[in-house]
Amino acid sequence: MNNTAPALHKWPVSSRIFHWISALLLLITWGMILLSENIGGSTYIGLHKAFGLSLLFWMIARVINRLFTQAPPEMPAPKWQMLASRLTHFALYAALIAMPIAGLLMTVYGGRPVDMFGLFAIPVFVTPDRGMARFFNDMHTEIIWPMIIAFTLLHIGAALYHQFVKKDRLIHRMK
Ligand code: HEM
Ligand code: HEM
Repeated sequence: MNNTAPALHKWPVSSRIFHWISALLLLITWGMILLSENIGGSTYIGLHKAFGLSLLFWMIARVINRLFTQAPPEMPAPKWQMLASRLTHFALYAALIAMPIAGLLMTVYGGRPVDMFGLFAIPVFVTPDRGMARFFNDMHTEIIWPMIIAFTLLHIGAALYHQFVKKDRLIHRMK
């Protein structure tokens, strides 16, 4: 790098760990659904719920970390791109928190506790209600999931654009 290149501001190491483990947990949670749909039985859907709830706990810790650590200055970009980036990041945070909450509520309204890897269980803390279970099922599968897919593709697309078109080492900030 020469002296005229702008300084590269990296995310704090805690933010980088939170980012990549969130992505990994999302991938595993989705993978468990694919296994459950293709193989069936109760094992994979049980693991889906436990990994999905782990992602909820992880996201809560991630938000706390975000509030108490300093984010690096934004990369200079056209105004609309900065706005799109902020909106996408906010939508990803919101969706990754709303998704497991909807999953949890659909399950407990369906009258089932959630087993966390055999370590402990989240009990049925509401009065079971088929209508509510149906509502949160629809939110989970038809509203929030398509949002996660759309914003994640947009996010990864933007990262690839920075990497291969703008070549500005943006991804390095999160590595
Ligand atoms: C961020 C975390 C989560 C993600 C990304 C996620 C994603 C998904 C996806 C993609 C499906 C399949 C949707 C479809 O068939 O179209 C699904 C189904 C399901 N999820 Fe989740 N999920 C998460 C968390 C949870 C949690 C925490 C629970 C329960 C405690 C849960 C319970 C379920 C159940 C029971 C189904 C089957 C619904 C059905 O077939 O009608 N999920 N989830
Ligand atoms: C190949 C996969 C991915 C790459 C290369 C990537 C890259 C990045 C980079 C470079 C940033 C920092 C942007 C900046 O400094 O302005 C970032 C932030 C972020 N990423 Fe990703 N990411 C990936 C996957 C994901 C996934 C799967 C999610 C969640 C669904 C996600 C959620 C976020 C969020 C919420 C932020 C904002 C962080 C904050 O403001 O605290 N990323 N990502």
